[in-house]
Amino acid sequence: MKTTLITGTNRGIGLEMVRQYAANGWHVLATCRNPDRADALQQIAHDSSGAVEIEPLDVTNPEEISALGNRWKDRTVDVLINNAGFYGDHMGSEPMKIGKIDYPLWTRTLAVNTLAPMAMVETFLESILRSKEKKIVTLSSRMGSVGDNTSGGSYLYRSSKAAINAVTKSLAIDLSSQGIIAVVLHPGWVLTDMGGPNATLSTEASVRNMLQVITKLEAQDNGRFLLHDGTELPW
Ligand SMILES: NC(=O)c1ccc[n+]([C@@H]2O[C@H](COP(=O)([O-])OP(=O)(O)OC[C@H]3O[C@@H](n4cnc5c(N)ncnc54)[C@H](OP(=O)(O)O)[C@@H]3O)[C@@H](O)[C@H]2O)c1
Repeated sequence: MKTTLITGTNRGIGLEMVRQYAANGWHVLATCRNPDRADALQQIAHDSSGAVEIEPLDVTNPEEISALGNRWKDRTVDVLINNAGFYGDHMGSEPMKIGKIDYPLWTRTLAVNTLAPMAMVETFLESILRSKEKKIVTLSSRMGSVGDNTSGGSYLYRSSKAAINAVTKSLAIDLSSQGIIAVVLHPGWVLTDMGGPNATLSTEASVRNMLQVITKLEAQDNGRFLLHDGTELPW
């Protein structure tokens, strides 16, 4: 049985990833900040006959990442999915404008979207190397594409996702000799709390597409930035 380790699994895309991976017969190490309040996730775990394990993890907390790494140091992780994400630019009623940038919020955005995925890779690298798949998948965003930015704004989110794209490219180069495949995926505009009610894609469809893309990833895909359907995106 293959194993995936996923962050931010109590709602949205992460929750649907747990649901679909479990249905596909995978072992899922599902992490979230507050398992006690993750009712939908607890229900999936309850129905999974042990295939879904839930662990508490705030991805910005180094002690929690390290403790989890110690608990799982002998485990194998076939696919690490850095899904947890944070969009700080609309925390008020208005989009954040020049002159009103909230720097502490920017720091938090970078901590969740950029620093945490790297910390997860550092902590779980041995577990990933132990697997045959050796895949590191990070949920980025088209908004992190510099080439695709035609509307400006969203300074916090765009910069954090552009940065994780750069981090992933370096990981892909540095770890390719060890057989690692590292990619960034844009899930589409998805109907979640982050995507909002006008989004065009269901979590079910986005995740179904992404799981197909992840399954088919090969060495030649290492370091790519892909849409949920596998289309290549501009950096
Ligand atoms: N939805 C879209 O249209 C869209 C588009 C492009 C990219 N994405 C990316 O896709 C990923 C999933 O997005 P989503 O739409 O499912 O977002 P969402 O509905 O807002 O869910 C975000 C998830 O991340 C978790 N999270 C946030 N901060 C965390 C932390 N410090 N530690 C652990 N977990 C944390 C949240 O947990 P809590 O409940 O504890 O806050 C929640 O489970 C994100 O990386 C996002 O940037 C989404």
